[in-house]
Amino acid sequence: MIFFNEKERVFKLDTPNTTYMIGIVDKENFVGHIYYGKSLRDIDAAYLMRTEEPPFIPSKNNRERCSFYDCFPFEYPTSGVGDYREGGIGIRTAAGHVGSMLSYISYEIIDGKPELKGLPATFGTEKECMTLKLVCEDKYVGMQVELLYTVFEDVDVITRSVRITNIGQEYFYLTRVNSACIDMDNKDFDMVSLHGSWARERHIQRKTLGYGIHNVSSFRGESSHQDHPFLALVDKNTTQENGEIYAMNFVYSGNFRAQAEVTQFDSVRMTMGIHPENFCWKLECGESFQAPEVVMVYTDKGFDAMTNTFHKLYRNHLIRGVYKNKKRPILINNWEATYFAFDTEKLLSIAKEASALGIEMLVMDDGWFGKRNLDNCALGDWIVNEEKIRGGLKYLVHEVNKLGMKFGIWFEPEMISPDSDLYRAHPDWAIAIPGRPGTESRQQFVLDLSRQEVVDCIYEQVASVLRSANIEYVKWDMNRQLTDIGSYGLPVDRQGELYHRYVLAVYQMQDRLTKEFPHLLLENCSGGGARFDPGMLYFSPQIWCSDDTDAIERLEIQEGTALIYPLSTMGAHVSDCPNHAVGRVTPFDTRGIVALAGTFGYELDVTKIPQEDRDKIPGQVAMYHKYNDLVREGDYYRIASYAQNHKYDCWQVVGANQKQSLVTFVQVLSRVNFKSIRICLKGLNPDMRYRVVFENDDNIADKVYTGDMLMKAGLLVPVLWGDFQARLISLTNLE
Ligand code: GLA
Repeated sequence: MIFFNEKERVFKLDTPNTTYMIGIVDKENFVGHIYYGKSLRDIDAAYLMRTEEPPFIPSKNNRERCSFYDCFPFEYPTSGVGDYREGGIGIRTAAGHVGSMLSYISYEIIDGKPELKGLPATFGTEKECMTLKLVCEDKYVGMQVELLYTVFEDVDVITRSVRITNIGQEYFYLTRVNSACIDMDNKDFDMVSLHGSWARERHIQRKTLGYGIHNVSSFRGESSHQDHPFLALVDKNTTQENGEIYAMNFVYSGNFRAQAEVTQFDSVRMTMGIHPENFCWKLECGESFQAPEVVMVYTDKGFDAMTNTFHKLYRNHLIRGVYKNKKRPILINNWEATYFAFDTEKLLSIAKEASALGIEMLVMDDGWFGKRNLDNCALGDWIVNEEKIRGGLKYLVHEVNKLGMKFGIWFEPEMISPDSDLYRAHPDWAIAIPGRPGTESRQQFVLDLSRQEVVDCIYEQVASVLRSANIEYVKWDMNRQLTDIGSYGLPVDRQGELYHRYVLAVYQMQDRLTKEFPHLLLENCSGGGARFDPGMLYFSPQIWCSDDTDAIERLEIQEGTALIYPLSTMGAHVSDCPNHAVGRVTPFDTRGIVALAGTFGYELDVTKIPQEDRDKIPGQVAMYHKYNDLVREGDYYRIASYAQNHKYDCWQVVGANQKQSLVTFVQVLSRVNFKSIRICLKGLNPDMRYRVVFENDDNIADKVYTGDMLMKAGLLVPVLWGDFQARLISLTNLE
């Protein structure tokens, strides 16, 4: 709900368990942040803006206007006129000046949630959400800023975004646009973020928040392996089950910066938005700029509550398409099976074996087009190589379909190889600084998607392949980050728009693709999980989590990913051993159990693996069919973290009616002379009795316990023989 109290000039935004309050300061019309936290009953909280303390509001005493600007809790700060903290917005006028300050003009409360033009965003019906639009202006610049807040009724989330319009007589530039800002009192916070690298994405990092500026960011052109567009400020004592968390997640797939600034007055300014590096957007008179959306979650109930809030929001209000609430076909991908060395016969031999074992879809990865037998050529030439795909694509797909399997295909549409017909015809279609040799990465350049003719050409190539056969899945990859930021197509004064225009074009292409092929299952990917973000989830219900498929490495990667994203979104496959990324040998069972926490599939040559492994596939397939509804839709609880205890990992999912639950336990290194491990479960009904079954261990007898016992006293997992052992434990309510 959203209320406006005219007398107090206070807006109150309520979700089921949280309140957010904004105040308009008399006369000056500054928009101030009052409160964000647990639900409040009353509205008279404007005193929290501290306008009665020195430095006083300028209308009362103009002596210290500058000091006032530098400490007032602005709802959406500007810069250049006295607030020295991170600005929400930065501008440069046609005359080259940079100062601005916003004053409140009007408001509107709208049922539902307006779309953000050209951008992915959360959505909801008029019954599910309400939006507050606060209109502010800087009359000297000729700038109108609309602050948008959407309140969801079924989940404790407020989303924010900003729309800036040039209402003046001259153009100006936007040099910085944050989408959200919260100015609050410092509570001796820790800062939690997700850090990583290629094949090591989204490891959870927690550190003390001292004075000064702390940020996580990417200006690599994508959300990146390295940092993630997520930031949480948490109480020092916050645990999985208890404690305050202020979290922000960016619905955007390009450059970002998330920042916390602890000031001289012990306040914290938390901001999130497009990274200002190389960002400069020209706004002509009458033009608008729509900033991407930030999702804000507050809880006082620890990480489990934060996680389930994000999961619920993304499952119900972000992910779309026919697979939104559906089991995904179990796929087998030939990348780690064959790399580039495959042809029709090889693929069909894999498909034949796989279909007999219950696998439902064959995905043909990189290497099927142009002259691509290595990663040094042909990106941009999306024409089937009939020397490898003998008989043509239609024949191959038909043969795969005859086996009762679906067919999927890999593309990397945003790229161009210097050794490609496309590059030979259009060398100016690559992103480049004219006159300067481009920096190759994986022997490729990035296409200049700010040019519509490039977008159209690539889209047509991809779409005609999809139109040519019964293709039911696409893996959309992006295997390098952006450098040499320059466009042959953009005028001088718009070169600073390239990064953002690039992201908008990726969205445009995926929007066209999902509209033309509504039944397609799209899986995004970027050198593994470099573009695993809510922006991409709007177009694809699943994203390849990491190029590291080792079950033990995946524990930390999947723990960090699941901190925000539902298990239904995490691309996870069983691969061969020794693992291609780390050389580790793990039991086939463990690989299956870890992959079952994601979309589930295989990434190996099923014709070559040991017979004893192959024999296990039908059992894993059965587990997938038995438990995927629960894994996809259930509440997720972190029980133990290998990343923290260095011994074992454990997570749990619980069905909506608490009648069913699945616990995954992975012992990493085995230890001698130890007792069983006691794990306390969560989310169960204390009054229900549950049958506890160790699904992959016949030596452990089934038991029956109450939810009360399992949650308070716990369950014993025996010492397991050998390293890297895993157990899948199901709990079913006895009626
Ligand atoms: C990326 C992907 C892999 C595979 C290769 C193909 O690295 O993450 O899964 O598709 O590209 O080149």
